[in-house]
Amino acid sequence: MILSIESSCDDSSIALTSIENAKLLYHFKHSQDREHSIYGGVVPELASRLHADELPKILQKLSEFLQNDLSGIKAIAITTRPGLSVSLIDGLMMAKALSLSLNLPLICVNHLVGHIYSLFINRIDIREFLPLGILLISGGHTQILRFNADFSIKLISSTLDDSFGESFDKVAKNLNLGYPGGPLVEKEAKGLHNSTKYAFSIPLQGKKSLDFSFSGLKNAARLAIQKARECGILEQEKGEICAAFEKTACLHLLQKCELFLQKSNDISYFGIVGGASANVFLRENLKNLVAKFDKKLLCAPLEFCSDNAAMIGRSAINDFHNKKFSDLFSANVAPKSLPQDFI
Ligand code: KG4
Ligand code: ZN
Repeated sequence: MILSIESSCDDSSIALTSIENAKLLYHFKHSQDREHSIYGGVVPELASRLHADELPKILQKLSEFLQNDLSGIKAIAITTRPGLSVSLIDGLMMAKALSLSLNLPLICVNHLVGHIYSLFINRIDIREFLPLGILLISGGHTQILRFNADFSIKLISSTLDDSFGESFDKVAKNLNLGYPGGPLVEKEAKGLHNSTKYAFSIPLQGKKSLDFSFSGLKNAARLAIQKARECGILEQEKGEICAAFEKTACLHLLQKCELFLQKSNDISYFGIVGGASANVFLRENLKNLVAKFDKKLLCAPLEFCSDNAAMIGRSAINDFHNKKFSDLFSANVAPKSLPQDFI
């Protein structure tokens, strides 16, 4: 088994994955959403303190699950990048302590690669899905990637400014809805996507590049909220503003995915991963788009869209077989991906 730990942002999670068949044997996650909600976003120092409190409790639960027999664990996997340094450090310290005390190899995992493997939790052989196109949408990232048949991952495009998830968080904050914004904005927008009361321009429409941009849209939504507030009509209009924003943000993603699909005849599958891939409007429209190109959409189960240690453990199986272990003393965290993570 691989014991994996995830603490890159505001979720403390530990999992156990079978090396032989990729079965998820144990998974527990403590989400800090409630604690950060009043601030409208993640407060790094608070996140770090909560990880320091929660990770040992989860490890204790896992130890009880194994009846204190840790002998089946053959490696410790840990998310070391990208993420909040102060949060990543909490997990890495626990991983190093376990690696040292149990004399087990340490596997450092890129969180984004972990999200990609959320598509393959409980599945060991994934060759039939490769090469695979991927849309990764989270709180910090918006990227199109290509997962090649040789298991290398190529970064095709990313956002020039804010991420998809982050723009939902900001709209929710402006409306005092709470955090994380994605599900809250989605709830307000439900059933209102055909309303034409508010219309925002689709970012980078008509441009050939596959890059994304959300800062202009985020600002347009902020101004609409401000105007409605000044006119005293925000309460009755907020659903329509959320729907117009959500629709425009999703259409932007869909237009860039379409450009990618036009150029990718050799792929049969297209996957969406990351916390924001739970978005229903996006999933439904992406499914139709992918079908138009005669390809199939892959989505992770909802519980593994947001951050979790199960995807980190699944991703680490390859590294275990390739003996891609990290030196215990020099292993460190990094707020960004490393050049060698993507080709
Ligand atoms: O992957 P994730 O759990 O954490 C990061 O690695 O960042 O993604 C969290 C992000 C947040 O910005 C959250 O608002 C967004 O995903 N999100 C959504 C939805 N559910 C979560 N965005 C849009 N629609 C959703 N249903
Ligand atoms: Zn994530």
